[in-house]
Amino acid sequence: MTLNAPPEASAALSSVPRDLTGREVAIDVQQLVKGFRKKSGGTLLRPRFTESRAVDGVTFQVRRGEIYGVLGPNGSGKSTLIRAMSTLLIPDAGRVSIFGLDVVRDEAQVRRLLNRVSVDAAFYKKLSPRENLLYSAQLYGLAPHVAEERALSTLKRLGLKEKAFYEPLEEMSRGMQQKVAIARAFLTSPVVVLLDEPTTGLDPKSRRDVQEFVLELRDVHDATIILTTHDMPEAERLCDRIAFISSGKFVAEGTPDELRALAGPGKSLEDAFIELTGEDLAEKGEEDT
Ligand SMILES: Nc1ncnc2c1ncn2[C@@H]1O[C@H](COP(=O)(O)OP(=O)(O)O)[C@@H](O)[C@H]1O
Ligand SMILES: [Mg+2]
Repeated sequence: MTLNAPPEASAALSSVPRDLTGREVAIDVQQLVKGFRKKSGGTLLRPRFTESRAVDGVTFQVRRGEIYGVLGPNGSGKSTLIRAMSTLLIPDAGRVSIFGLDVVRDEAQVRRLLNRVSVDAAFYKKLSPRENLLYSAQLYGLAPHVAEERALSTLKRLGLKEKAFYEPLEEMSRGMQQKVAIARAFLTSPVVVLLDEPTTGLDPKSRRDVQEFVLELRDVHDATIILTTHDMPEAERLCDRIAFISSGKFVAEGTPDELRALAGPGKSLEDAFIELTGEDLAEKGEEDT
């Protein structure tokens, strides 16, 4: 598999901002806010709305080559954060830059650097992975043979049998479909990858395949990755640093060891999460949203 950055990426990557320690900042999020209007009563003709903030003033930086985890229960704002970072939602306030490019102002350039994988991936279910991926490749302006070779090698790497490449997607398990979604995101060789709950709802084998692929992306392909999850062991296994998110706010950030230490000697990451947020991750994390 080749994951060399496209020419646009190389141009953007040549003048990368750095943090105080001199390391390259791949992702810079400052005071990001995204709210939704929710109906909160009133009448049919005169409904009353309240504004609720799904992402409420989030600030963080991710260094080049890092796997950064955003860990929180359902409804804590993970997907909204990812969508606002990937140009799908316009932030109400704050800003997001990717290698110095602003996601709102420089949207077209950012889209070439970054891709997102989420559970709501849309596919033509009656078509095969091959047909779906070739269709996307066309939208990306990628030559069909390049796309096919790249997609097939990603899928094989993820443990998908080649035969499945030619069969209708609707006959596939959730795990296999998720692997196709990941292969599609990698058609463009993104240098920044946003993985929104990439393993939620997957069988143990697929979960493992996806987790190993994530580690390989960082180690072999120099990708910078944000990964959301409500799975504590996954966050510990994959992430260089983790942020705890609760009700749209980051309540703590650090390496797994640093976060454990916040809860005290001998405490687990889960203990730290409960102590800092007052929420139990496992309990609320059963559904697939
Ligand atoms: N399109 C939307 N319209 C209205 N409310 C939304 C929308 N998307 C998310 N929300 C609300 O924002 C909050 C955070 O949701 P989300 O970002 O999906 O959390 P998570 O991914 O952590 O489960 C929830 O209260 C959810 O109901
Ligand atoms: Mg979500």
